[in-house]
Amino acid sequence: MNSLIVVASKSHGNTRRIAEAMAETLDARVVTPDEVYDAEIDAADLIGWGSGIYWMSFAPELRRRVQRLDARGRGRAFVFSTSGLPETPLRRYSRALVESLAGRGFTVADDVFACRGLDTMGPLALIGGVNKGAPTTNDLAAAQAFARRVRES
Ligand SMILES: Cc1cc2nc3c(=O)[nH]c(=O)nc-3n(C[C@H](O)[C@H](O)[C@H](O)COP(=O)(O)O)c2cc1C
Repeated sequence: MNSLIVVASKSHGNTRRIAEAMAETLDARVVTPDEVYDAEIDAADLIGWGSGIYWMSFAPELRRRVQRLDARGRGRAFVFSTSGLPETPLRRYSRALVESLAGRGFTVADDVFACRGLDTMGPLALIGGVNKGAPTTNDLAAAQAFARRVRES
């Protein structure tokens, strides 16, 4: 299976660590939204799309990269993120990205992977941030288990 992980990780590399853990399981290449070629996306059977959550949204460059794709028959996709706070059950952040991927022709996994990441945004920096040490080794293991489940589903 030809797998790819596209990740935008702009703050502490939290989401990049999750991406690399998943990539190990999937034997996937990890690329940023700016460096991935359309041809690579077209050729992949499974693509993970992830970023940190910034101002209650996935990274704009990740969202734009998906929006630039044409709609056609495509492989499978899944979505993942790290954030300071958990997403609400309504999945406000991830739903828009899932819908955008589905609109480009991907078959998107029902489940999304999300975990906490060190957050030093604004005044949180004064106390050294919250979620210190996150993503944890447990989070990395959970990310790998998630990737395995998606691959086998
Ligand atoms: C500019 C900025 C905005 C953020 N906005 C949110 C937010 O709206 N909700 C949230 O839960 N976390 C927010 N965070 C925390 C990040 O989502 C968290 O630190 C994440 O793990 C960063 O991932 P990264 O290291 O891969 O960039 C924000 C962080 C930054 C730097």
